[in-house]
Amino acid sequence: MKIILIGFMGAGKSCIGRLLARKLHLPFFDMDKLVVKKSGRKNINEIFQKDGETFFRNLELTIAKNLKYNKKSCVATGGGVVINNNIMNLLKNQKSDIVVFLKTSLKTINNRLKNTHDRPHFSDRKNTEKLFKDRSPLYKFYADIIVSTDNKELNNITGEIIERINSV
Ligand code: S3P
Repeated sequence: MKIILIGFMGAGKSCIGRLLARKLHLPFFDMDKLVVKKSGRKNINEIFQKDGETFFRNLELTIAKNLKYNKKSCVATGGGVVINNNIMNLLKNQKSDIVVFLKTSLKTINNRLKNTHDRPHFSDRKNTEKLFKDRSPLYKFYADIIVSTDNKELNNITGEIIERINSV
């Protein structure tokens, strides 16, 4: 079983994924981190600035291809993977794989991200709102399980995910 966490920027995919993996004794993979490592750049902003978004998306695809072989794992994706059907199909490639959508309100996201600087798509409020509107149906489309994260502790969120996975 592979658990794939999807959701908008700031939904908590990395933090929740790390804790969930620890609780379930699964190896954890953070796609954003793997993309940065593969690019040789310092961070995501630098990849967007120097290589462009298309290059970044191609790196995401390469990482998804590599992760295909990690049958038992927990994967935190980047918020944009749902715009690429190929990436989603590579990530969810076994019947037992489960896609978990971490649902978070735009208000919570704005609060969580206001002091962060490594998200090229979070620079302008209007753009963020548009992305949120455009992507929300995509997250729902790919989700096997939807878990809301607003005003919840990490421990409770991971507990809820485990309960829901066990009842699928
Ligand atoms: C992106 C989300 C980011 C990162 C990149 C692009 C997006 O990941 O992959 O900045 O298009 O929504 P997080 O969701 O971890 O912030």
